[in-house]
Amino acid sequence: MSEENPTADRVPEGDAGLFDAVVNLAKRRGFIFPSAEIYGGIRSTYDYGPLGALMLRNVRDAWWRTMVRHRDDVVPIEAAIITNPKVWEASGHLETFVDPLVDCRSCHERWRADQIEGTCPNCGSADLTEARPFNLMFKTFVGPLDDESAVAYLRPETAQGMFVNFLNVMTTMRRKPPFGIAQLGKGFRNEITPGNFVFRTREFEMMELEFFVPPADADRWFAYWCEERLAWFVGLGIPEHRLRFRQHAQEDLSHYSKATTDIEYLFPWGWGELEGIANRTDFDLKAHSALSGVRLEYFDQVTGERYTPHVIEPSAGATRAMMAFLLAAYDEDEIGGERRTVLRLHPRLAPFQAAVLPLSRKEPLAALAHQVLHRCQDALMCDYDDTQSIGRRYRRQDEIGTPFCVTIDFDSLTDEAVTIRERDSTGQTRVPIAHVVTELQDRIGS
Ligand code: GAP
Repeated sequence: MSEENPTADRVPEGDAGLFDAVVNLAKRRGFIFPSAEIYGGIRSTYDYGPLGALMLRNVRDAWWRTMVRHRDDVVPIEAAIITNPKVWEASGHLETFVDPLVDCRSCHERWRADQIEGTCPNCGSADLTEARPFNLMFKTFVGPLDDESAVAYLRPETAQGMFVNFLNVMTTMRRKPPFGIAQLGKGFRNEITPGNFVFRTREFEMMELEFFVPPADADRWFAYWCEERLAWFVGLGIPEHRLRFRQHAQEDLSHYSKATTDIEYLFPWGWGELEGIANRTDFDLKAHSALSGVRLEYFDQVTGERYTPHVIEPSAGATRAMMAFLLAAYDEDEIGGERRTVLRLHPRLAPFQAAVLPLSRKEPLAALAHQVLHRCQDALMCDYDDTQSIGRRYRRQDEIGTPFCVTIDFDSLTDEAVTIRERDSTGQTRVPIAHVVTELQDRIGS
Protein backbone atom coordinates (compact mmCIF):
# COMPACT_ATOMS: atom_id res chain seq x y z
CA MET A 1 0.00 0.00 0.00
CA SER A 2 2.90 2.34 0.46
CA GLU A 3 5.08 3.74 -2.27
CA GLU A 4 8.07 1.87 -0.84
CA ASN A 5 6.27 -1.42 -1.36
CA PRO A 6 8.97 -3.70 -2.83
CA THR A 7 6.39 -5.57 -4.89
CA ALA A 8 5.20 -2.25 -6.28
CA ASP A 9 5.48 -2.93 -9.96
CA ARG A 10 5.29 -6.68 -9.90
CA VAL A 11 2.06 -8.34 -10.85
CA PRO A 12 1.43 -11.11 -8.32
CA GLU A 13 1.35 -14.70 -9.43
CA GLY A 14 -2.13 -16.01 -10.03
CA ASP A 15 -3.16 -13.01 -12.09
CA ALA A 16 -2.46 -14.73 -15.39
CA GLY A 17 -5.84 -15.37 -16.90
CA LEU A 18 -7.73 -13.27 -14.35
CA PHE A 19 -8.37 -10.43 -16.75
CA ASP A 20 -9.74 -12.77 -19.45
CA ALA A 21 -11.81 -14.67 -16.88
CA VAL A 22 -13.49 -11.48 -15.66
CA VAL A 23 -14.09 -10.06 -19.14
CA ASN A 24 -15.53 -13.39 -20.13
CA LEU A 25 -17.79 -13.63 -17.11
CA ALA A 26 -18.91 -10.02 -17.60
CA LYS A 27 -20.09 -10.84 -21.10
CA ARG A 28 -21.47 -14.31 -20.39
CA ARG A 29 -23.53 -13.27 -17.36
CA GLY A 30 -24.80 -9.93 -18.63
CA PHE A 31 -22.62 -7.42 -16.83
CA ILE A 32 -20.88 -5.69 -19.74
CA PHE A 33 -21.33 -6.12 -23.50
CA PRO A 34 -19.40 -4.57 -26.38
CA SER A 35 -21.53 -1.60 -27.45
CA ALA A 36 -23.84 -2.20 -30.44
CA GLU A 37 -22.33 -5.63 -30.91
CA ILE A 38 -24.75 -6.51 -33.74
CA TYR A 39 -22.97 -3.85 -35.83
CA GLY A 40 -19.52 -5.09 -34.87
CA GLY A 41 -19.30 -2.78 -31.87
CA ILE A 42 -17.35 0.47 -31.68
CA ARG A 43 -13.82 0.42 -30.39
CA SER A 44 -13.45 0.31 -26.61
CA THR A 45 -17.07 1.25 -25.99
CA TYR A 46 -19.31 -0.84 -23.78
CA ASP A 47 -22.93 -1.20 -22.79
CA TYR A 48 -23.86 -2.29 -19.28
CA GLY A 49 -26.21 -5.26 -19.28
CA PRO A 50 -28.81 -6.04 -16.59
CA LEU A 51 -26.31 -7.18 -13.95
CA GLY A 52 -23.83 -4.46 -14.88
CA ALA A 53 -26.50 -1.78 -14.65
CA LEU A 54 -27.41 -3.04 -11.18
CA MET A 55 -23.82 -3.23 -10.03
CA LEU A 56 -22.81 0.16 -11.45
CA ARG A 57 -25.78 1.67 -9.67
CA ASN A 58 -24.57 0.03 -6.45
CA VAL A 59 -21.08 1.50 -6.93
CA ARG A 60 -22.64 4.94 -7.34
CA ASP A 61 -24.91 4.37 -4.33
CA ALA A 62 -21.96 3.25 -2.19
CA TRP A 63 -20.12 6.45 -3.08
CA TRP A 64 -23.23 8.58 -2.51
CA ARG A 65 -23.85 6.96 0.85
CA THR A 66 -20.34 7.79 2.09
CA MET A 67 -19.81 11.12 0.37
CA VAL A 68 -23.26 12.69 0.58
CA ARG A 69 -25.73 10.84 2.79
CA HIS A 70 -23.46 10.28 5.77
CA ARG A 71 -22.06 13.81 5.79
CA ASP A 72 -23.46 17.08 7.00
CA ASP A 73 -20.81 19.13 5.18
CA VAL A 74 -21.46 17.94 1.59
CA VAL A 75 -24.34 18.76 -0.76
CA PRO A 76 -24.98 17.31 -4.22
CA ILE A 77 -25.65 18.87 -7.62
CA GLU A 78 -26.36 17.63 -11.13
CA ALA A 79 -24.94 19.99 -13.71
CA ALA A 80 -25.39 19.97 -17.48
CA ILE A 81 -23.05 17.87 -19.61
CA ILE A 82 -22.99 20.45 -22.40
CA THR A 83 -22.56 23.93 -20.98
CA ASN A 84 -21.26 27.36 -21.96
CA PRO A 85 -17.88 26.83 -23.70
CA LYS A 86 -16.44 29.72 -21.70
CA VAL A 87 -16.30 27.25 -18.81
CA TRP A 88 -13.61 25.28 -20.65
CA GLU A 89 -11.79 28.43 -21.63
CA ALA A 90 -11.54 29.55 -18.00
CA SER A 91 -10.76 26.10 -16.65
CA GLY A 92 -7.78 25.78 -19.01
CA HIS A 93 -9.14 22.66 -20.72
CA LEU A 94 -9.32 24.30 -24.15
CA GLU A 95 -5.67 25.13 -24.04
CA THR A 96 -4.06 22.46 -21.92
CA PHE A 97 -6.23 19.33 -21.84
CA VAL A 98 -4.08 17.73 -24.50
CA ASP A 99 -2.13 14.53 -25.04
CA PRO A 100 0.86 14.25 -27.42
CA LEU A 101 -0.32 12.38 -30.53
CA VAL A 102 1.92 10.52 -33.00
CA ASP A 103 0.99 8.63 -36.17
CA CYS A 104 2.74 5.52 -37.40
CA ARG A 105 3.57 6.15 -41.08
CA SER A 106 3.63 2.40 -41.81
CA CYS A 107 0.34 1.08 -40.37
CA HIS A 108 -1.36 4.45 -39.65
CA GLU A 109 -2.18 3.57 -36.04
CA ARG A 110 -2.20 6.53 -33.64
CA TRP A 111 -0.53 6.56 -30.23
CA ARG A 112 0.12 8.73 -27.25
CA ALA A 113 3.80 9.64 -27.56
CA ASP A 114 4.28 9.41 -23.79
CA GLN A 115 3.00 5.81 -23.70
CA ILE A 116 5.28 4.27 -26.33
CA GLU A 117 9.05 3.99 -26.65
CA GLY A 118 9.87 5.29 -30.09
CA THR A 119 8.36 2.40 -32.06
CA CYS A 120 4.80 1.56 -33.07
CA PRO A 121 3.38 -1.08 -30.65
CA ASN A 122 1.26 -2.41 -33.54
CA CYS A 123 3.80 -2.99 -36.35
CA GLY A 124 7.15 -2.18 -34.72
CA SER A 125 8.01 0.60 -37.17
CA ALA A 126 10.10 3.51 -35.91
CA ASP A 127 8.74 5.74 -38.68
CA LEU A 128 6.54 7.95 -36.52
CA THR A 129 5.39 11.52 -37.06
CA GLU A 130 6.44 14.31 -34.70
CA ALA A 131 4.25 14.48 -31.59
CA ARG A 132 1.52 17.11 -31.81
CA PRO A 133 -0.93 18.25 -29.12
CA PHE A 134 -4.36 16.66 -29.37
CA ASN A 135 -7.24 18.07 -27.32
CA LEU A 136 -9.22 15.34 -25.59
CA MET A 137 -12.50 17.22 -25.41
CA PHE A 138 -15.34 16.04 -27.65
CA LYS A 139 -16.54 18.92 -29.77
CA THR A 140 -20.14 19.35 -30.85
CA PHE A 141 -22.48 22.04 -32.22
CA VAL A 142 -25.45 23.43 -30.34
CA GLY A 143 -28.48 24.22 -32.46
CA PRO A 144 -28.90 24.01 -36.23
CA LEU A 145 -25.72 25.86 -37.24
CA ASP A 146 -22.48 23.94 -37.41
CA ASP A 147 -20.15 26.92 -37.47
CA GLU A 148 -17.65 28.16 -34.89
CA SER A 149 -20.26 30.27 -33.05
CA ALA A 150 -22.19 27.08 -32.18
CA VAL A 151 -19.24 25.04 -30.89
CA ALA A 152 -19.68 23.40 -27.49
CA TYR A 153 -17.99 20.51 -25.68
CA LEU A 154 -19.01 17.40 -23.79
CA ARG A 155 -17.64 17.84 -20.28
CA PRO A 156 -14.32 16.03 -19.69
CA GLU A 157 -14.85 16.28 -15.90
CA THR A 158 -17.89 17.02 -13.75
CA ALA A 159 -15.82 19.30 -11.49
CA GLN A 160 -16.44 22.52 -13.40
CA GLY A 161 -20.16 22.19 -12.68
CA MET A 162 -19.31 22.63 -9.00
CA PHE A 163 -17.08 25.65 -9.57
CA VAL A 164 -19.52 27.59 -11.74
CA ASN A 165 -22.33 26.85 -9.24
CA PHE A 166 -20.20 27.63 -6.19
CA LEU A 167 -21.97 30.87 -5.30
CA ASN A 168 -25.46 29.52 -6.06
CA VAL A 169 -24.88 26.51 -3.82
CA MET A 170 -23.15 28.37 -1.00
CA THR A 171 -25.88 30.99 -0.75
CA THR A 172 -28.96 28.81 -1.30
CA MET A 173 -27.70 26.18 1.15
CA ARG A 174 -26.29 28.76 3.62
CA ARG A 175 -22.87 27.12 3.69
CA LYS A 176 -19.48 28.28 4.82
CA PRO A 177 -16.13 26.59 4.13
CA PRO A 178 -15.28 23.89 4.87
CA PHE A 179 -18.06 22.32 2.79
CA GLY A 180 -18.23 20.19 -0.31
CA ILE A 181 -20.25 19.85 -3.50
CA ALA A 182 -20.56 16.32 -4.86
CA GLN A 183 -21.60 15.14 -8.29
CA LEU A 184 -21.93 11.84 -10.08
CA GLY A 185 -22.20 11.65 -13.83
CA LYS A 186 -20.77 11.00 -17.22
CA GLY A 187 -17.47 12.39 -18.42
CA PHE A 188 -16.21 12.24 -21.99
CA ARG A 189 -12.66 12.21 -23.29
CA ASN A 190 -11.55 11.51 -26.81
CA GLU A 191 -8.78 9.20 -25.56
CA ILE A 192 -6.16 8.37 -28.18
CA THR A 193 -5.62 4.87 -26.83
CA PRO A 194 -8.59 3.61 -24.83
CA GLY A 195 -8.34 0.03 -23.67
CA ASN A 196 -8.03 -2.62 -20.99
CA PHE A 197 -11.76 -3.23 -21.08
CA VAL A 198 -13.61 -0.48 -19.14
CA PHE A 199 -10.41 0.83 -17.51
CA ARG A 200 -10.02 3.54 -20.14
CA THR A 201 -13.02 4.40 -22.30
CA ARG A 202 -14.11 7.54 -24.10
CA GLU A 203 -17.37 7.77 -22.20
CA PHE A 204 -17.19 6.95 -18.51
CA GLU A 205 -18.78 7.72 -15.22
CA MET A 206 -17.18 10.00 -12.65
CA MET A 207 -17.76 10.48 -8.91
CA GLU A 208 -16.34 13.81 -7.84
CA LEU A 209 -16.26 15.94 -4.73
CA GLU A 210 -15.04 19.54 -4.68
CA PHE A 211 -14.35 20.38 -1.06
CA PHE A 212 -13.98 24.12 -0.41
CA VAL A 213 -11.76 25.03 2.54
CA PRO A 214 -10.09 28.08 4.10
CA PRO A 215 -6.69 28.33 2.34
CA ALA A 216 -4.70 27.72 5.53
CA ASP A 217 -6.46 24.37 6.09
CA ALA A 218 -5.90 22.94 2.61
CA ASP A 219 -2.98 20.61 3.45
CA ARG A 220 -4.83 19.10 6.40
CA TRP A 221 -7.94 18.43 4.32
CA PHE A 222 -5.85 16.97 1.52
CA ALA A 223 -4.36 14.39 3.91
CA TYR A 224 -7.81 13.74 5.37
CA TRP A 225 -9.41 12.97 1.99
CA CYS A 226 -6.55 10.69 0.92
CA GLU A 227 -7.16 8.50 3.98
CA GLU A 228 -10.96 8.64 3.70
CA ARG A 229 -10.98 7.58 0.09
CA LEU A 230 -8.55 4.72 0.61
CA ALA A 231 -10.75 3.50 3.47
CA TRP A 232 -13.77 3.56 1.13
CA PHE A 233 -12.21 1.08 -1.27
CA VAL A 234 -10.98 -1.14 1.57
CA GLY A 235 -14.39 -1.05 3.27
CA LEU A 236 -15.96 -2.31 0.05
CA GLY A 237 -13.69 -5.31 -0.12
CA ILE A 238 -10.56 -4.34 -2.05
CA PRO A 239 -7.64 -5.96 -0.20
CA GLU A 240 -5.24 -3.35 1.21
CA HIS A 241 -2.19 -4.99 -0.30
CA ARG A 242 -3.60 -4.35 -3.78
CA LEU A 243 -3.93 -0.61 -3.12
CA ARG A 244 -1.30 2.09 -2.79
CA PHE A 245 -0.91 5.84 -2.81
CA ARG A 246 1.18 7.39 -5.57
CA GLN A 247 2.21 10.99 -5.32
CA HIS A 248 2.52 12.83 -8.65
CA ALA A 249 5.90 14.31 -9.44
CA GLN A 250 5.86 18.09 -9.79
CA GLU A 251 6.34 17.91 -13.56
CA ASP A 252 3.41 15.49 -14.01
CA LEU A 253 0.79 17.60 -12.21
CA SER A 254 -2.34 18.70 -14.09
CA HIS A 255 -2.46 22.39 -14.98
CA TYR A 256 -4.74 23.14 -12.02
CA SER A 257 -3.04 21.12 -9.30
CA LYS A 258 -0.52 21.98 -6.60
CA ALA A 259 -0.38 18.39 -5.35
CA THR A 260 -2.04 15.17 -6.46
CA THR A 261 -2.02 11.73 -4.90
CA ASP A 262 -3.54 8.82 -6.78
CA ILE A 263 -5.05 5.76 -5.19
CA GLU A 264 -3.83 2.94 -7.38
CA TYR A 265 -5.04 -0.63 -7.68
CA LEU A 266 -2.87 -3.53 -8.72
CA PHE A 267 -4.63 -4.51 -11.96
CA PRO A 268 -3.60 -7.73 -13.74
CA TRP A 269 -1.31 -5.62 -15.98
CA GLY A 270 0.20 -3.58 -13.12
CA TRP A 271 -0.65 -0.56 -10.98
CA GLY A 272 -3.33 1.75 -12.35
CA GLU A 273 -5.15 4.83 -11.05
CA LEU A 274 -8.54 4.35 -9.41
CA GLU A 275 -8.94 7.83 -8.01
CA GLY A 276 -6.99 11.07 -7.85
CA ILE A 277 -7.01 13.40 -4.87
CA ALA A 278 -5.89 16.87 -5.95
CA ASN A 279 -5.22 20.13 -4.22
CA ARG A 280 -6.66 22.48 -6.88
CA THR A 281 -5.96 25.53 -4.71
CA ASP A 282 -8.02 28.58 -5.78
CA PHE A 283 -7.13 27.98 -9.44
CA ASP A 284 -10.64 27.30 -10.72
CA LEU A 285 -12.61 29.83 -8.67
CA LYS A 286 -10.09 32.56 -9.55
CA ALA A 287 -10.11 31.61 -13.24
CA HIS A 288 -13.92 31.71 -13.41
CA SER A 289 -13.99 34.97 -11.45
CA ALA A 290 -11.58 36.52 -13.92
CA LEU A 291 -13.44 35.45 -17.06
CA SER A 292 -17.01 35.90 -15.81
CA GLY A 293 -16.44 39.04 -13.80
CA VAL A 294 -18.37 37.49 -10.88
CA ARG A 295 -16.40 37.30 -7.63
CA LEU A 296 -16.46 33.69 -6.50
CA GLU A 297 -15.44 34.24 -2.91
CA TYR A 298 -16.57 33.52 0.58
CA PHE A 299 -17.61 36.66 2.44
CA ASP A 300 -18.48 36.74 6.13
CA GLN A 301 -20.90 39.58 6.71
CA VAL A 302 -20.30 39.65 10.45
CA THR A 303 -16.50 39.69 10.52
CA GLY A 304 -15.97 41.19 7.07
CA GLU A 305 -13.63 38.31 6.26
CA ARG A 306 -13.32 37.65 2.52
CA TYR A 307 -11.29 34.99 0.71
CA THR A 308 -11.28 32.63 -2.25
CA PRO A 309 -11.56 29.10 -0.85
CA HIS A 310 -9.05 26.44 -1.82
CA VAL A 311 -10.37 23.18 -3.20
CA ILE A 312 -9.49 19.59 -2.33
CA GLU A 313 -10.86 17.23 -4.93
CA PRO A 314 -11.24 13.46 -4.56
CA SER A 315 -12.17 12.33 -8.08
CA ALA A 316 -12.93 8.71 -8.93
CA GLY A 317 -14.19 6.77 -11.92
CA ALA A 318 -17.30 4.68 -11.19
CA THR A 319 -16.82 2.41 -14.19
CA ARG A 320 -13.15 1.95 -13.42
CA ALA A 321 -13.93 1.25 -9.76
CA MET A 322 -16.51 -1.33 -10.84
CA MET A 323 -13.84 -3.10 -12.85
CA ALA A 324 -11.50 -3.16 -9.84
CA PHE A 325 -14.30 -4.50 -7.62
CA LEU A 326 -14.99 -7.28 -10.14
CA LEU A 327 -11.31 -8.22 -10.45
CA ALA A 328 -10.78 -8.21 -6.69
CA ALA A 329 -13.91 -10.31 -6.12
CA TYR A 330 -13.26 -13.00 -8.71
CA ASP A 331 -12.36 -16.35 -7.20
CA GLU A 332 -12.51 -20.04 -7.96
CA ASP A 333 -12.71 -22.69 -5.26
CA GLU A 334 -14.01 -26.18 -4.63
CA ILE A 335 -17.23 -27.04 -2.82
CA GLY A 336 -17.90 -30.72 -2.07
CA GLY A 337 -15.41 -31.79 -4.72
CA GLU A 338 -16.93 -29.52 -7.35
CA ARG A 339 -15.20 -26.45 -8.82
CA ARG A 340 -17.10 -23.22 -8.59
CA THR A 341 -16.58 -19.65 -9.73
CA VAL A 342 -17.54 -17.14 -7.10
CA LEU A 343 -17.61 -13.34 -7.09
CA ARG A 344 -16.88 -12.37 -3.48
CA LEU A 345 -18.44 -8.94 -3.93
CA HIS A 346 -19.34 -6.78 -0.97
CA PRO A 347 -23.09 -7.43 -0.42
CA ARG A 348 -23.92 -3.81 -1.18
CA LEU A 349 -22.12 -3.98 -4.53
CA ALA A 350 -23.52 -7.31 -5.73
CA PRO A 351 -26.18 -6.97 -8.46
CA PHE A 352 -28.63 -8.94 -6.32
CA GLN A 353 -28.48 -8.95 -2.54
CA ALA A 354 -30.62 -12.08 -2.39
CA ALA A 355 -32.02 -14.80 -4.61
CA VAL A 356 -35.28 -16.49 -3.75
CA LEU A 357 -35.20 -20.15 -4.70
CA PRO A 358 -38.23 -22.44 -4.21
CA LEU A 359 -37.39 -26.15 -4.27
CA SER A 360 -40.39 -26.74 -6.51
CA ARG A 361 -41.92 -24.47 -9.12
CA LYS A 362 -45.38 -25.91 -8.44
CA GLU A 363 -48.06 -24.70 -6.02
CA PRO A 364 -48.31 -24.27 -3.12
CA LEU A 365 -44.54 -23.65 -2.86
CA ALA A 366 -44.51 -21.14 -5.73
CA ALA A 367 -47.10 -18.91 -4.03
CA LEU A 368 -45.20 -18.95 -0.75
CA ALA A 369 -41.92 -18.22 -2.56
CA HIS A 370 -43.50 -15.20 -4.26
CA GLN A 371 -44.73 -13.95 -0.90
CA VAL A 372 -41.16 -14.15 0.42
CA LEU A 373 -39.88 -12.48 -2.75
CA HIS A 374 -42.29 -9.56 -2.39
CA ARG A 375 -41.30 -9.06 1.25
CA CYS A 376 -37.62 -8.99 0.33
CA GLN A 377 -38.08 -6.77 -2.74
CA ASP A 378 -39.18 -3.85 -0.63
CA ALA A 379 -35.74 -3.66 0.94
CA LEU A 380 -33.35 -5.50 -1.38
CA MET A 381 -32.66 -6.17 -5.04
CA CYS A 382 -33.69 -9.81 -5.53
CA ASP A 383 -33.45 -12.48 -8.17
CA TYR A 384 -35.96 -15.30 -8.45
CA ASP A 385 -34.95 -18.65 -9.90
CA ASP A 386 -36.98 -21.84 -9.94
CA THR A 387 -35.25 -23.75 -12.73
CA GLN A 388 -32.93 -26.78 -12.47
CA SER A 389 -31.42 -28.34 -9.37
CA ILE A 390 -30.83 -26.27 -6.25
CA GLY A 391 -27.07 -26.96 -6.50
CA ARG A 392 -26.92 -25.46 -9.98
CA ARG A 393 -28.96 -22.49 -8.87
CA TYR A 394 -26.53 -21.84 -6.01
CA ARG A 395 -23.61 -21.99 -8.48
CA ARG A 396 -25.31 -19.51 -10.79
CA GLN A 397 -25.82 -17.10 -7.93
CA ASP A 398 -22.26 -17.58 -6.64
CA GLU A 399 -20.92 -16.70 -10.06
CA ILE A 400 -22.71 -13.34 -10.11
CA GLY A 401 -21.87 -12.55 -6.50
CA THR A 402 -25.30 -12.90 -4.84
CA PRO A 403 -24.39 -12.98 -1.13
CA PHE A 404 -27.54 -14.74 0.09
CA CYS A 405 -29.88 -17.38 -1.27
CA VAL A 406 -33.26 -17.78 0.40
CA THR A 407 -34.47 -21.32 -0.14
CA ILE A 408 -38.11 -22.24 0.30
CA ASP A 409 -38.65 -25.96 0.88
CA PHE A 410 -41.64 -28.13 1.74
CA ASP A 411 -41.12 -27.64 5.49
CA SER A 412 -41.54 -23.90 4.89
CA LEU A 413 -45.25 -24.57 4.33
CA THR A 414 -45.64 -25.74 7.91
CA ASP A 415 -42.85 -24.14 9.96
CA GLU A 416 -43.08 -20.76 8.19
CA ALA A 417 -39.31 -20.61 7.98
CA VAL A 418 -36.78 -20.57 5.15
CA THR A 419 -33.08 -21.36 4.78
CA ILE A 420 -30.60 -18.57 4.22
CA ARG A 421 -27.50 -19.85 2.46
CA GLU A 422 -24.41 -17.67 2.53
CA ARG A 423 -22.26 -17.36 -0.60
CA ASP A 424 -18.71 -17.41 0.79
CA SER A 425 -19.00 -20.02 3.53
CA THR A 426 -21.97 -21.83 1.94
CA GLY A 427 -23.26 -22.05 5.55
CA GLN A 428 -27.02 -22.39 6.01
CA THR A 429 -29.33 -21.01 8.72
CA ARG A 430 -33.04 -21.54 9.26
CA VAL A 431 -34.88 -18.25 9.73
CA PRO A 432 -38.60 -17.50 10.32
CA ILE A 433 -40.14 -15.90 7.22
CA ALA A 434 -41.25 -12.98 9.40
CA HIS A 435 -37.58 -12.18 10.14
CA VAL A 436 -36.00 -12.81 6.74
CA VAL A 437 -35.75 -9.17 5.68
CA THR A 438 -34.28 -7.86 8.93
CA GLU A 439 -31.91 -10.83 9.09
CA LEU A 440 -30.64 -10.07 5.56
CA GLN A 441 -30.41 -6.34 6.22
CA ASP A 442 -28.38 -7.00 9.37
CA ARG A 443 -25.97 -9.20 7.48
CA ILE A 444 -25.62 -6.74 4.61
CA GLY A 445 -25.20 -3.81 6.97
CA SER A 446 -27.54 -1.50 5.07
N1 GAP B 1 -11.58 16.37 -12.01
C1 GAP B 1 -10.37 15.64 -11.89
C2 GAP B 1 -10.19 14.65 -12.92
O1 GAP B 1 -10.91 14.64 -13.89
P1 GAP B 1 -8.75 12.53 -13.57
O2 GAP B 1 -7.66 11.84 -12.81
O3 GAP B 1 -8.46 12.96 -14.96
O4 GAP B 1 -9.19 13.75 -12.66
C3 GAP B 1 -10.63 11.16 -12.40
O5 GAP B 1 -10.03 11.59 -13.60
C4 GAP B 1 -10.92 9.67 -12.42
O6 GAP B 1 -11.78 9.38 -13.52
C5 GAP B 1 -9.71 8.76 -12.64
O7 GAP B 1 -9.07 8.48 -11.41
C6 GAP B 1 -10.33 7.53 -13.25
O8 GAP B 1 -10.84 6.67 -12.23
C7 GAP B 1 -11.50 8.09 -14.02
N2 GAP B 1 -11.15 8.21 -15.46
C8 GAP B 1 -10.44 9.19 -16.05
N3 GAP B 1 -10.35 8.97 -17.37
C9 GAP B 1 -11.03 7.82 -17.63
C10 GAP B 1 -11.31 7.06 -18.81
N4 GAP B 1 -10.90 7.47 -19.99
N5 GAP B 1 -12.03 5.92 -18.67
C11 GAP B 1 -12.49 5.51 -17.46
N6 GAP B 1 -12.25 6.19 -16.33
C12 GAP B 1 -11.53 7.33 -16.39
